[in-house]
Amino acid sequence: MLTQIQTEQFKIKYLQTLGEINEQEVSLYEDIKEGLNQRPKRLPSQYFYDDHGSELFEKICELPEYYPTRTEASILNQYAEEIAEITGTCELVELGSGSSTKTRLLLDAYEKKNNVFKYMPIDVSAGILKESAIQLQQEYTSLQIEGLVGTYDQALSQLNSTSCSARMIFFLGSSMGNFKPDECDRFLDKITQVLSKGNYFLLGIDLQKPQSILEAAYNDSQGITAAFNLNMLAHLNDKFQGNFDLNSFEHQAVYNQEKKQIEMYLISKKSQEVTLKNLNVKVDFQEKERMLTEISRKFDLEQIAEQLESKQLNTLKVFTDPNNWFALILCQCSK
Ligand code: TRP
Repeated sequence: MLTQIQTEQFKIKYLQTLGEINEQEVSLYEDIKEGLNQRPKRLPSQYFYDDHGSELFEKICELPEYYPTRTEASILNQYAEEIAEITGTCELVELGSGSSTKTRLLLDAYEKKNNVFKYMPIDVSAGILKESAIQLQQEYTSLQIEGLVGTYDQALSQLNSTSCSARMIFFLGSSMGNFKPDECDRFLDKITQVLSKGNYFLLGIDLQKPQSILEAAYNDSQGITAAFNLNMLAHLNDKFQGNFDLNSFEHQAVYNQEKKQIEMYLISKKSQEVTLKNLNVKVDFQEKERMLTEISRKFDLEQIAEQLESKQLNTLKVFTDPNNWFALILCQCSK
């Protein structure tokens, strides 16, 4: 199950099954069944990211309404060198690296300041990880790249102690906002667990702002976010021999003021039954029934800094944009 591509400087490890699953693996996918038994139904958001989903996500990042990517990139553009200055030489571990576009801003800064380092991109999407790692290797010829294909949990459990003097794990794009509060708590525990004392964690988070701006960011006029949301059903069809009809569902994204989160749904346009053959799942949808596919929490800076500190991740510096729409928090592990 574990395969590997390797050259001297370049290595990709697969921690996940690629392609169709076999019978023994069905139990690995209990989360899907569990989600479909909840009310409202929900699906695990990792299934957004097959290769087509990752491509659609890259398009989302360039949408005029989707401000987070652009804003975070502008902060990195301005402060990456300062970050590299503070941490010194580091092994860089990126969770959810995707196309590694924003990563280049960090790599440039580290290359300029320190030279010797290693980059470990981690992503569930094998195609985009491999493609961007090959691309990066051509651009940064002396950079050692070691990619891991798998979920964050799978990958974090694989990280051994580093041979480099320091390590920085970075998690951009406000992807932490896609975790529920209890998942977020466990995730941060895991981060503290894999970092040694003095190591760094760089976290990008989207901040609270008016509802109209938030809802526009997840309901773009070109319908790319809708296509991305619906693609999860196509991915499930492929992987589990399912028969979701993409024309019978529609995308909805709303801001929940009370929970301070965008909620992404797929709405069943009619009453229908869907099967996922490989998982022995049969599920009924009523007309207009909503199925939750993602949340995107919007953070309060002070609250999140407190939570980080409770995990022994102490804030060294916060970097924001002039509107205070987005923040990058650089923390150091004190345990
Ligand atoms: N981390 C991104 C966010 O919360 C993920 C995301 C952006 C997303 N647009 C989306 C997830 C649309 C699902 C659907 O902003």
